[in-house]
Amino acid sequence: MGFKLAIDGPAASGKSTISARLAKELGWEHIDTGSMYRAVTLIALEKKINLENESEYSFVKDLDIKYHKGRILVDGRDVSKEIREPIVNENVSLVSSFPSVRRELVTLQKKAASVGNVIVDGRDIGTVVMPEADLKIFLIASVDERTRRRYLDFINSGKVVDLNKVKEDLQIRDKKDSTRKESPLIKADDAILLDTSDLSIDETIEAIIKLINDKRGE
Ligand code: DC
Repeated sequence: MGFKLAIDGPAASGKSTISARLAKELGWEHIDTGSMYRAVTLIALEKKINLENESEYSFVKDLDIKYHKGRILVDGRDVSKEIREPIVNENVSLVSSFPSVRRELVTLQKKAASVGNVIVDGRDIGTVVMPEADLKIFLIASVDERTRRRYLDFINSGKVVDLNKVKEDLQIRDKKDSTRKESPLIKADDAILLDTSDLSIDETIEAIIKLINDKRGE
């Protein structure tokens, strides 16, 4: 049996960056579950379905969604870039609020997480996808710091965005993700809260590796 690490937290708290770096350093598998909700959102937009209507998402069960080494593939097509577009950001909270969509993706995620040492990041990993995880971390950072990070992501990928709009979008998404009925973003009782507002990526990784080693030594 491998070590299972669950990392949850709000938008732009650093989950995906930290998880990817950790996985590389430790040689573990990493599953970014947010990218799967984003992929379904992208396909729903392309199909031009009525996004508000849950019954139009029956296509999800026929999609072949795979996440491997930082790339997300849908039916063999690499959509890693498209899923970061603002139009996907704006709609992914709605799409991920539908119980039937969540059911399909959670089944997929549980299966993907059942192999060896793995880091799974998302919103409901410690509570729903891997309640049996060996270590659960709930990553947070102040809204201003998260805005700064998301803003820099956009700028670095050549996009022109307004800082205040980035902050507003983050706050709207946090609210939707935390208040939805089906598996909302919530810290599992046994998760360790890690505030990264004043930590660099390296410091955060160091702190998590220490927590993993402490757990293994128990
Ligand atoms: O981590 P992210 O920003 O890529 O996630 C995109 C959206 O997907 C997020 O707004 C909420 C949803 N999500 C979810 O509901 N459950 C997960 N396990 C992961 C993401």
